[in-house]
Amino acid sequence: MIQNKYVVGNWKMNGVGAHLEEVRAIAGGAARYRGVDVALCLPATLIHRAADVVPGFPVGAQDVHFEPHGAHTGCLGAAMLVDAGAVLTIVGHSERRERERSAEVRAKAEAAQAAGLDVIVCVGESLEAHEAGATIETVCRLANKSLPEQVGPTRLTLSYEPVWAIGSGSTPSPKEIGWVAGALRDLVDKRFGGQGAGVRILYGGSVNGSNAAEIFAVPNVDGALVGGASLRAIDFLPIVAAA
Ligand code: G3H
Repeated sequence: MIQNKYVVGNWKMNGVGAHLEEVRAIAGGAARYRGVDVALCLPATLIHRAADVVPGFPVGAQDVHFEPHGAHTGCLGAAMLVDAGAVLTIVGHSERRERERSAEVRAKAEAAQAAGLDVIVCVGESLEAHEAGATIETVCRLANKSLPEQVGPTRLTLSYEPVWAIGSGSTPSPKEIGWVAGALRDLVDKRFGGQGAGVRILYGGSVNGSNAAEIFAVPNVDGALVGGASLRAIDFLPIVAAA
């Protein structure tokens, strides 16, 4: 199945109201590129405001609780995110996996799907696992435990993010990314059968305007999850242009 490339920005804990101008610039700039889907996962405080500023442009969350509501101080349920204007959410980012296990990530993915959100499930190996040659084993184990039961009615995406590549300026070689993306493609196809073809596989970790084209050319890589370089249109749009 041929799909558009998918380029998603993850603003992490960055951005206040003044940065809605960047959201506007990114949404406006992204609209110029055909054949690529672009979205931004914003801090929860900006989702509603961004949805108003750039109606129709996909904005999302960076996490979601697995319960729909209840006594969970500081957390947000999937229906609340939808109510705020989110159309997607990330789950299982390594910066959150320090506090959660894969079973929880999977429950979050399923809760998000049930509420109508597109879901990006993140998996990645530590530097220790990478240096021990356990990358594929680690990533496939995490993916198997974290992916939801079904592809579901919304869009499901799997993002390979080596923990050691995030924010470090280092990336695996295209060949290494290709090995992992190929293994994840096999896993998804085996797990979901024919529906697996609709699951996109992203790479994330120090993607920027200079390395994006090389990464997007890797077989089985359907796009990127971008952190630091997604905060400003001037940095993010060249990545979109490369897709
Ligand atoms: O979610 C995004 C990833 O953590 C990558 O972040 O592009 O700043 O390395 P980065």
